[in-house]
Amino acid sequence: MAKAKKTVFFCQNCGYESGKWMGQCPGCREWNTFVEETVTPSSGSSSKRNVDRGQNEPVQLSKVQMNEDERTTTGIGELDRVLGGGIVQGSLVLVGGDPGIGKSTLLLQVCRQLALQGRQVLYISGEESLRQIKLRAQRIGDISDNLLLLCETNLEIIRSIIEKKKPDVVIIDSIQTMYNEEVSSAPGSVSQVRESTGVLMQIAKGLGVSIFIVGHVTKDGNVAGPRVLEHMVDTVLYFEGDRHASYRILRGVKNRFGSTNEIGVFEMRDVGLVEVQNPSEYMLNGKPEGASGSIVACSIEGSRPILIEIQALVCNTNFGLPRRTAAGTDYNRVNLLMAVLEKRVGMNLSNCDAYVNIAGGIKMNEPAIDLGILLAVVSSYKDIVISDKTIAFGEVGLSGEVRAVTMAEQRVMEAKKLGFETVILPKSCMGNLKNVKGIRLVAVSSVKEAIAAIR
Ligand code: TYD
Ligand code: MG
Repeated sequence: MAKAKKTVFFCQNCGYESGKWMGQCPGCREWNTFVEETVTPSSGSSSKRNVDRGQNEPVQLSKVQMNEDERTTTGIGELDRVLGGGIVQGSLVLVGGDPGIGKSTLLLQVCRQLALQGRQVLYISGEESLRQIKLRAQRIGDISDNLLLLCETNLEIIRSIIEKKKPDVVIIDSIQTMYNEEVSSAPGSVSQVRESTGVLMQIAKGLGVSIFIVGHVTKDGNVAGPRVLEHMVDTVLYFEGDRHASYRILRGVKNRFGSTNEIGVFEMRDVGLVEVQNPSEYMLNGKPEGASGSIVACSIEGSRPILIEIQALVCNTNFGLPRRTAAGTDYNRVNLLMAVLEKRVGMNLSNCDAYVNIAGGIKMNEPAIDLGILLAVVSSYKDIVISDKTIAFGEVGLSGEVRAVTMAEQRVMEAKKLGFETVILPKSCMGNLKNVKGIRLVAVSSVKEAIAAIR
């Protein structure tokens, strides 16, 4: 007797699975996100088939062959950096981001570069017509004949075309438009996206094709519906950026072939995305001079230091409850740092509103920017102008101590390269900085000392 079809409720936000409908998702606490989807139980024959084949034997680690040429550089340095040195053969990469941020543009540029290198590339779009893709391609430059375009959403057709054409790299734009006939729910639903990714995974591993998948992100920053997607793919890259600024940041969130948290910085121009060679200089563009409440801090993103401007505005509150906001950094961290100032330095901030902002809309959460946030708040509260040739970094602890951070030397060198003259840094980092010359180092061990240093 054929197995009956089963229906399951999925949270469209996080992929939580439940046998019955629920108003609020226990996984992500969103309301009204459960949708009923039909799942067909698998026949169970596939695992038996694998056992029958019997060719897979355990091997010793030392006998595993490594092939150094497995990585293909994309010709876009910032992307290679995030990927960990290039595209790995047979890898599945998810590129997520808000609509309109530039995912299709970046991937078309990747296609262009790879095609110029003589690789066979297949760009499959389920969202745009061939003419729309051509219009975009005209903006980014000449494209070689090695690039093939296809408008298709049916995965079985896509699979047969990939098997026939045997491209080196395939782009799927976007996973939310793809569908698998065996799954009855609509494209973009959790089970559809999960099944489709599974099929693409098989194609990638089976044929050794590298596949890039585009995934749209909902307003809370999850890939729409399928957080489930993240653990299936090899690499997850997210595009961030301010709608009103032209720079875009590509952040590696997961990478089975390299380090994570690496970022690539791009600028959206009329010819597509252009790499930003010196992100620190770019981020500090337009920093006000002689204004209080502003200081430059240094955060390590992946393996390189990036200088950013932290701004704070502290003013008396008109209501009983002070208002605080943090843009680009952790709100709770800002509250904690203000509590440290209140208790350890004796500043009366409990009747002040405070707004903290990382200029440019970039998001930074490294603890090393604590000292920068704290000094920006003090600078605004006391109306002290901090010299624009000064940077500060260090983690702040609850007893008001300034704690060591990693890679102090790289941070100081980056500041020196950009013409800064003074660095306020944790005393415990000084041991690593014996060889640094030509820049004034102010070592502090407590918040009080750091405040004394900016006066
Ligand atoms: P797109 O790649 O279509 O975004 P996504 O695929 O993430 O939805 O990017 C579209 C935006 O980029 C659109 O607002 C126009 C802008 N753009 C440029 O500014 N310059 C260009 O050369 C291109 C191709 C797009
Ligand atoms: Mg697109």
